[in-house]
Amino acid sequence: MRTVTVEPASAPAYEVRVGAGAAESFAPDCARVIGHEPGRLFAAVDEGVPDAFVRRVVGAFSGAGYAVTEHRVRATERTKSLETLGELLGAIAGAGLERRDPVLAIGGGIVGDVAGFAAASYRRGVPVIQCPTTLLSMVDASVGGKTGVNLTVRTGEDPDGGEALLKNMAGAFHQPRAVLADVSSLDSLPDRHLRAGLAECVKHGLIAGDWGDAGLADWLAGAIPGVLARDRATLVECVARNVAVKARVVKADETEQSSTGGRALLNLGHTFAHAIETIPTLSPDADPAHAPLHHGEAVAIGLVGASACAAAMGLVDASHTERTIGALRACGLPVSVGGLPDDETLIARMRHDKKAAGGVLRLTLPTGPASTALVSDPPLDAVRAGWRAVRR
Ligand code: GLY
Repeated sequence: MRTVTVEPASAPAYEVRVGAGAAESFAPDCARVIGHEPGRLFAAVDEGVPDAFVRRVVGAFSGAGYAVTEHRVRATERTKSLETLGELLGAIAGAGLERRDPVLAIGGGIVGDVAGFAAASYRRGVPVIQCPTTLLSMVDASVGGKTGVNLTVRTGEDPDGGEALLKNMAGAFHQPRAVLADVSSLDSLPDRHLRAGLAECVKHGLIAGDWGDAGLADWLAGAIPGVLARDRATLVECVARNVAVKARVVKADETEQSSTGGRALLNLGHTFAHAIETIPTLSPDADPAHAPLHHGEAVAIGLVGASACAAAMGLVDASHTERTIGALRACGLPVSVGGLPDDETLIARMRHDKKAAGGVLRLTLPTGPASTALVSDPPLDAVRAGWRAVRR
């Protein structure tokens, strides 16, 4: 078992345990970590997680003395909603959780975010333990305390019937008490989801030079076959190394306040991605049956867009975009997409991003092979060049 410690400024330090059997190893320590005798535990479980894995995890906590209530959650961007949050809060109240009883989120980033938000708001905050079961949530979403749901708003300019889904627009910072990344859960993860998780790893490689791991991108390039073959040792190294980068960023700027970037740098590619990932017709390979894009696929396309935008501004040269495309292709990820709306619609959608301030775009852009900066009000021609680079 590998352990990475996250040290947020506002909350107790916590462990990310990485390895097969992470939940079994943690359950006997849970009461000590939370500082409260085992009582009730509410498990919010992604519908897509195989029952055998859920039984193992829940069994570990029951065996440690917890009375577990299980509640299945449908995990889609549309159901990552205030309605699902309300259902969860009702179920948590129905299970009789008290102030120091934990919520355990078992699943991908969507369940982790909604269950984390429910834990942040129920009785003004109960402990949450994240048990991520996708590569994407192991290396990114489960670590660092961001929780939330999407909001639906009516807009004049949107291509999907005038209704836009605004990603993670309501939420809270609520650090977990532990993250249990059991890589054996990846054995049954569909290939497409595993590849989508690699997009966040490529992203970390593009920023990690400023965060203590300049060799991450090169290491990842050699490790992709092992990750895709679900080799346990490679997966453990991949998750632990990516989490270590994220832990350094979170320690430096837990709530994304830094004027020089800080945690916002982790959003490399995401403002482009958020503008497209909720468009229901977009597909990673032109097959409509594969629409919509998964978050990681949209991030892959967004990384190319951000790189091309930065190249148009002279922040990097064109070889940065070529290298980014090569890294993403090696993971089997899309680097362009057909059927995009026009540039002005896309730019209007980018302005809905949480990082926009006073309607002014703020983009995280590459400034070197493994470094980035937060750029306010980038020239719109450069943003258009970013979109041009990803149109198929
Ligand atoms: N996924 C970006 C962050 O946690 O800040």
